[in-house]
Amino acid sequence: MQTTFRRPPRLALIPLLLAAASLHAAADPLAPTARWSAYTAGRAATPPMGWSSWNAFGTDIDEAKILGSAQRIADSGLSARGYRYINIDDGWAARRQMPDGRLVIRAERFPSSVQGGGTSFRPLTDKLHAMGLKAGIYSDLGRNTCSQAYSGVETDLPKGSVLEREIGLYGHIDQDINLFFGDWGFDFIKVDGCGLRAYGANSAKVRSGQYRALTPVLDLESVGRSDIPAVQAEFTQINAALQRNKPDGDFLLSLCIWGAADVRAWGKNYGNLSRTSDDITPSWSRLLSNFDSAARRELYGHPGGWNDPDMLYIGKGDFDADHLVEARSHFALWAMLNAPLMLGADLRTMPQPLMDIVGNADIIAVNQDPAGNQAVLAYDADDLEILVKPLASGQKAVAIFNRGLAPIDVDLTAEHLKLRGDAPVTLTDLWTKADSTFTKETKLRVMPRETRIFRANGERALAQGIYLSEQPGSVNPAVDGVVRPQVDPTIFRSSFGWTGTKGPGERPMYAGWGGARADSTPYGQAMQIAGTPYAAGIGILANSRLEVRNQRYRRLSAQVGVDDSAQDRKHDVTFMIYGDGKLLAKSKPLRWGQPAQALSADVAGVRMVELVARSTAGANEHLPVSWGNAALFSSER
Ligand code: GLA
Repeated sequence: MQTTFRRPPRLALIPLLLAAASLHAAADPLAPTARWSAYTAGRAATPPMGWSSWNAFGTDIDEAKILGSAQRIADSGLSARGYRYINIDDGWAARRQMPDGRLVIRAERFPSSVQGGGTSFRPLTDKLHAMGLKAGIYSDLGRNTCSQAYSGVETDLPKGSVLEREIGLYGHIDQDINLFFGDWGFDFIKVDGCGLRAYGANSAKVRSGQYRALTPVLDLESVGRSDIPAVQAEFTQINAALQRNKPDGDFLLSLCIWGAADVRAWGKNYGNLSRTSDDITPSWSRLLSNFDSAARRELYGHPGGWNDPDMLYIGKGDFDADHLVEARSHFALWAMLNAPLMLGADLRTMPQPLMDIVGNADIIAVNQDPAGNQAVLAYDADDLEILVKPLASGQKAVAIFNRGLAPIDVDLTAEHLKLRGDAPVTLTDLWTKADSTFTKETKLRVMPRETRIFRANGERALAQGIYLSEQPGSVNPAVDGVVRPQVDPTIFRSSFGWTGTKGPGERPMYAGWGGARADSTPYGQAMQIAGTPYAAGIGILANSRLEVRNQRYRRLSAQVGVDDSAQDRKHDVTFMIYGDGKLLAKSKPLRWGQPAQALSADVAGVRMVELVARSTAGANEHLPVSWGNAALFSSER
């Protein structure tokens, strides 16, 4: 996707932005708030499951194709396993009717929509609802959508005057949200971002008079060239419109700005799903990029708001019926990441072995586990990763992912699982259902591109408590200390192919580097304070505030200090624990090289614990600190 970008925010937003900025200037972002600030509106207690039209059909959609896949979901029993949302992606709109601005559906593709003199999706959503399913629709932040910018299939695109072809939300947020959720009965909306990206005054389609110019504020290739507050301001308006037009809260809002504008850090505050990367394609290397874009963001996904590495591509290319190893990996990895499980194939013709993969009830249960913990990387290397996902039952799901081309004999240890090494651990293979038992460690062969996935049952290392890194779904980096977003160098850079190999290549482009991590420093190192390593804990930058939900625990403790990996060796950091807004414990000022201080607080009855690390270091210092062994305990000890 080649685009031209301009810096200044749209004029209409400037007064709003200034007002927001002056409010923020007054508030201290590190002051405790006693509340959970990530998005919880809508219905996303667990990641949504369903089907979307895009990967199978692009804009070549019609009613029969959509209902065909919905029918297979119902008939095959997948709906009983949780697949519920049937989402119409780009390509449904015919035009925006003038002068009232009401959107019109492509009647020849959706015959049931023709009603009186107009069109309505109500007959289709009624049908889906009667099948026990939910219905999703697609729009864009700008005036025009992605297919209008990038698709070559002109016949599928909206027709009419320039204004009639403006089918995106821009300037029509309340009207369209009301139409989608009120009149038409949808339950889900995906909001794409090409309208804020591809319609600069210099773009070919604008110059030729096809579309009106809209100053781009999103630049996927460069976070520095994106205008983050302008994008956030529009999502704020969409949030308000959903509140107004769907007051029962039965909606899902899916943000689709592909990891641009550092959305990997803030999408959790604006929607139920947030895309962390550009589009998936049915190729192994693309799976690696999309997986990587979410895999180290375990603290940024929680019940209510999930990282979205894009839809499943099981059924095509490297994930078709001739590639069952890859298809199984795709499914297991998405389950471990708490990704939405959105099928993307034409289910009318999906072969049974692939239906069996996406219907694996044990792996679905891992994804839908109510604790909402995204897997944490317990072992991290270029060719092999071990992911561990703590489940509400106290058991762990573990996935061992061979990214490379040679078989690997993996040592899985009780330590990886935060289970005791002197007690037996039972592994249940979630593909074969076979049980095996080991003590301390076991060797497992993992074939190229294979992901072995198990449920592990043993004695938890921390019998009387839980490490915060064992419950990432309950830890929110409300302020993660990242002031100047930097690109994340750990994301695999697949040759994407939008433009062949023309241009300079797929340079590092997804921001998010330096964000908060479970069992790791923000820059991916093992945590260590004054020579003492910590296998468990939360790594974050100074000048940060973590929100930790607490229900039943009575004590929080941690070994706190500046991490040995810090380059800033002169600034002090003071660590504070708050309970429901009250200061409970405070460290002395600590500097690089000083031993960790034990910090402990009585949190009995406290609902919201906040962990603040405050430093005199300026915004440029990016000073990593470690909450070593941070854990909640059931006794007051
Ligand atoms: C973008 C999105 C895709 C899809 C298309 C539709 O590329 O990322 O998921 O919605 O637009 O045009």
